[in-house]
Parts: sequence; structure tokens; C-alpha cells
Amino acid sequence: MIAKGGALAEALAKPGLNIILLGPPGAGKGTQSANLVATRGMVQMSTGDMLRAAVKAGTPIGLKAKTLMDAGQLVPDDVVSGLIGEALDHTPASTGVIFDGYPRTAEQAASLDRLLGDHGRTLDHVIELEVDENALVDRITGRFSCAKCGAGYHDRHKLPQVAGVCDVCGSTEFKRRPDDVESTVRTRMDEYRAKTAPILPLYAARNLVRAVDGMADMDSVQAEIDGILGSC
Ligand code: AP5
Repeated sequence: MIAKGGALAEALAKPGLNIILLGPPGAGKGTQSANLVATRGMVQMSTGDMLRAAVKAGTPIGLKAKTLMDAGQLVPDDVVSGLIGEALDHTPASTGVIFDGYPRTAEQAASLDRLLGDHGRTLDHVIELEVDENALVDRITGRFSCAKCGAGYHDRHKLPQVAGVCDVCGSTEFKRRPDDVESTVRTRMDEYRAKTAPILPLYAARNLVRAVDGMADMDSVQAEIDGILGSC
């Protein structure tokens, strides 16, 4: 009998899905990633979250990234690709992965192809969240999260059920991201248009892009993504 979780079982297991969620700041990548983690047991690899953790821990990467992040500019390609490579090293190929906020440049897209190949994975879908940029400033500047468990909220669209108390863990402490101020959000959008949007045609040429209406309500966006991923 093959031991559950053993190396052979892992080698024989069905490969997990590998998907990219692509869209400008505030498009809903983090929101939809959380849904996929909860409903499909996929792993979310968010370079933004990884960098924020590095900043919080005061690691050399965090120290290097903080100034760029606070200014809304991209962190160097080798830094983020290194983080993704390490995360993939620790994730079995049978576990599906959502790449959230990565890749963001053509160089990162090439690195991801190499990393996926090295880990016996193939890219299944690039889900493009199509949004109206004008609405995104409102989305982002209204966003806050639980300081303890990270559950996400919004001043207008998603308040805790009991004012000032996290629905998930009951904490009464909340936080806002330092880069969620309007001027920085505008820089982040400029970066998206200049460096990230141009990678879409590269994936479209490989017939991997699936567009989703990111302006629909959260449940509808989730349903549309579920329809694309099917029962895999
Ligand atoms: P990162 O953390 O990746 O930020 P981002 O891409 O700007 O994306 P956001 O997290 O702001 O938005 P989101 O699309 O996840 O939206 P969310 O679901 O939260 O990157 C931060 C920084 O790190 C970068 O600027 C850069 O410096 C650096 N960095 C990260 N990755 C990098 C990389 N690969 N290369 C180089 N540098 C990198 O939703 C937003 C709000 O809208 C929430 O309040 C939510 O509740 C609400 N909402 C979501 N969906 C809906 C909906 N359908 N209707 C109404 N409201 C909605």
C-alpha cells in the first residue's frame, strides 16, 4: 500500500491547476484568491502579501522593497521571482496555485514559465479581471482589514456585521495599507498600464486568457471564475 502523502503518491497524484489572476490594483485579485483557497483548497501566492510580510519582519528584502512599495513602484523582477520560486519549492505539484499579482512584467512572465517547468507544472489559465479604473480608486481607498486575521473589509461595500468587530476572529483592531492613498494608487495604476498590461497579449497568443467582468458583484465574479475552472 502506498503511504498517504508519500513521494510516490505525490508523483502519481493529479497535477493541480496553475492560474494567474491578472488585473490592475483593486481589481479583486486578493478577494477572488481567498474564495479559491476556501472553496478549492488552492494555494494563493501573492507577491504583494509576501513583500508586506518581509517588510513587517524587517528582512533585507523587506528593507529593499518598502520604499518602492510605499511609492507605488514595482520591486525588482529577481526579488519577486525568487519569492515565487521558494514558495513553489514548498508546494506539492498536486496542489493548485493561484498567482496573485505575479507576474507583473514580461521578464517575470518568462521567469514564471521557467519556474513552472522546473516544478513539473503547466499554466492552465490567465484570468483577466476587466475593470473600470475610475471605480478602483474608491475600492482601494475604502479598503481595510482585520489586524489579527487579515479578513478584508470595505468602508462602503463590506463592513463588519457588528461595527468595529471582525466577523471572522472577533478582533477589534483593523489596519489600512500605507500604499492605499489616492496619489500612490494612481502611480500603481500607471505601473500596471506601462508594465503589466503588455504581458496579456503574450498569454493571449497562447490562448490562455479568460476575461471576467470584475465590475460585477463579488459573488458573480466568483461564479464566472468557477465556470472557467470547471470541476478540475
Ligand atoms: P499588491 O499587494 O499585489 O497590490 P495590487 O496589485 O495593487 O492589488 P491590490 O491588493 O491593491 O488589489 P486586488 O486586485 O488584490 O484587490 P482586492 O481583492 O484587495 O502589490 C502591492 C505592491 O507590492 C506593488 O505596488 C509593488 O510595489 C509590490 N509588488 C507586488 N507584486 C509585485 C511584483 N510581481 N513585481 C513587482 N512588484 C510587486 O479588492 C480591493 C477592494 O475592492 C477590497 O476592499 C474588496 O473588498 C473590494 N472588491 C473586490 N472585488 C469587488 C467587487 N467585485 N465589487 C466591489 N468591491 C470589490
